[in-house]
Amino acid sequence: MKTLILNGSPRKNGDTAFMINTLMEQLSSEYKTVNAYDCNISPCVDCRYCREHSGCAEEDEMQEVYEYIRICDNVVIASPVHFSELSAKLLGIGSRLQMFDCMEMFGKKTPDIKPKKGGIILAGGGVGKPEGAVRTAKILLHTMNCKQIAEPVFSLRTDRVPAYGDKAVLQSLRTLAEFLG
Ligand SMILES: Cc1cc2nc3c(=O)[nH]c(=O)nc-3n(C[C@H](O)[C@H](O)[C@H](O)COP(=O)(O)O)c2cc1C
Repeated sequence: MKTLILNGSPRKNGDTAFMINTLMEQLSSEYKTVNAYDCNISPCVDCRYCREHSGCAEEDEMQEVYEYIRICDNVVIASPVHFSELSAKLLGIGSRLQMFDCMEMFGKKTPDIKPKKGGIILAGGGVGKPEGAVRTAKILLHTMNCKQIAEPVFSLRTDRVPAYGDKAVLQSLRTLAEFLG
């Protein structure tokens, strides 16, 4: 079993990082994490190469991530809520998934992606509600062929209680780990 974890937080020891670490401790599968603020992955520039070819023209770390997406069993999208959305850098990585949609739309080919399970983890501590981030995360998970998506894990009062002090979140992470198997 393989799990891809996309981490959208710029904070190394922040709330999202805590929740990811807690999940990883409970996962029986191997995993690969991609840190949106550290990795060498550019956003999609709509060059339209993928309309004519299978694959993406941009030769960066995303090529390795595409391969992992094809073979892994689970994908977890974990992010702070920024203005009611996933973080900007994570959206940048998400934009590169357009390649899979283009394969279907223009190449008339179903991308060869193993069906998988998906998870969503969100940290928030401000006024913007998380629904937009959940909606976007689900779109990205569907693009990566997630057939089942678990209930999102939220820690949404981090302005008052950091994720590590949020008892409910620990239980939700256990449930997510069990779901992912
Ligand atoms: C630019 C920015 C925008 C934010 N917008 C929201 C928001 O819309 N809703 C919310 O609940 N929290 C918002 N927050 C607060 C973060 O989501 C919160 O502090 C979160 O716990 C940070 O997680 P991290 O430590 O994993 O990065 C925002 C923070 C920043 C820096």
